[in-house]
Amino acid sequence: MTLREAPMACSSGVVMSALFWSVAIVYLTNIGRVSGDCWLIEGEKGFVWLAICSQNQPPYEAIPQHINSTIVDLRLNENKIKSIHYSALSRFANLTYLNLTKNEISYIEDGAFSAQFNLQVLQMGFNKLRNLTEGVLRGLGKLQYLYLQANLIETVTPNAFWECPNIENIDLSMNRIQQLDGSTFTSLTKLTTCELYTNPFNCSCELLGFVKWLSVFPNRTNERMVCDSPPGSSLRRMRTCMIF
Ligand SMILES: *[C@@H]1O[C@H](CO)[C@@H](O)[C@H](O)[C@H]1NC(C)=O
Ligand SMILES: *[C@@H]1O[C@H](CO)[C@@H](O)[C@H](O)[C@H]1NC(C)=O
Ligand SMILES: *[C@@H]1O[C@H](CO)[C@@H](O)[C@H](O)[C@H]1NC(C)=O
Ligand SMILES: *[C@@H]1O[C@H](CO)[C@@H](O)[C@H](O)[C@H]1NC(C)=O
Ligand SMILES: *[C@@H]1O[C@H](CO)[C@@H](O)[C@H](O)[C@H]1NC(C)=O
Ligand SMILES: *[C@@H]1O[C@H](CO)[C@@H](O)[C@H](O)[C@H]1NC(C)=O
Repeated sequence: MTLREAPMACSSGVVMSALFWSVAIVYLTNIGRVSGDCWLIEGEKGFVWLAICSQNQPPYEAIPQHINSTIVDLRLNENKIKSIHYSALSRFANLTYLNLTKNEISYIEDGAFSAQFNLQVLQMGFNKLRNLTEGVLRGLGKLQYLYLQANLIETVTPNAFWECPNIENIDLSMNRIQQLDGSTFTSLTKLTTCELYTNPFNCSCELLGFVKWLSVFPNRTNERMVCDSPPGSSLRRMRTCMIF
């Protein structure tokens, strides 16, 4: 799983570390530890643009409220955040990168991210989400990378991505998805990677619409997609569905 994450971590890591060092070298003296234990790093114009609140001790159980609203990059990975509410995030209008990997998020209020119209990378792998709806992703018009691997997602509603036309990369691997509607990803014209491995797909003929989409998707991801049910089924054998 970490291997699959690597390509993204690398490409955005390079960009971010380049940015980080160009700013950090000049403003090294501004780095300081502020109450609440996040590292707040200032950029050129004296704005705080990066907040590192990863692995806080004690872990954050909600989005901390003392962080400057100017941040572009917020790292809250490896805490114990349980839910995401609009009121906790709406101040961060310039947020572009948000890392919420390895928390305990099981609830996201409808429209929780709708003030993050600049968000490009949302990392929420290794949480406890059960379903992905239009409400979760509402207003994320610039989103390009969505990481939701290793959650408990059973339901992805067909309209989940309607407000995110710029998505290029989706990771839904290691969830509990049995069914997907054929129209789920069809509006995403920029999609290049869609990871769905290690989901217990139910390859009844109801999955046919999705399988048809997958068969014409340029970056085929079904190599590692397997059918858990019905017994003996496979994506390949689903061709027989087309006879009826
Ligand atoms: C950032 O927020 C902290 C406390 O929340 C404040 O002390 C500091 O002045 C702010 N920095 C800037 C550059 O606004
Ligand atoms: C967002 O960034 C712009 C320009 O960098 C700045 O003028 C504005 O105040 C920022 N907004 C917030 C909420 O920090
Ligand atoms: C996001 O958090 C994960 C898990 O802690 C970490 O492995 C990854 O490097 C982080 N990525 C960024 C860009 O902060
Ligand atoms: C999402 O999951 C929760 C908890 O399992 C459930 O109560 C809710 O009805 C689900 N919503 C949708 C739209 O599937
Ligand atoms: C397939 O995915 C790779 C890597 O994610 C990407 O570079 C390439 O452009 C994609 N191909 C198409 C046809 O989308
Ligand atoms: C798979 O889907 C079919 C058709 O919707 C349904 O009858 C069957 O119960 C499902 N199997 C499992 C294991 O969920």
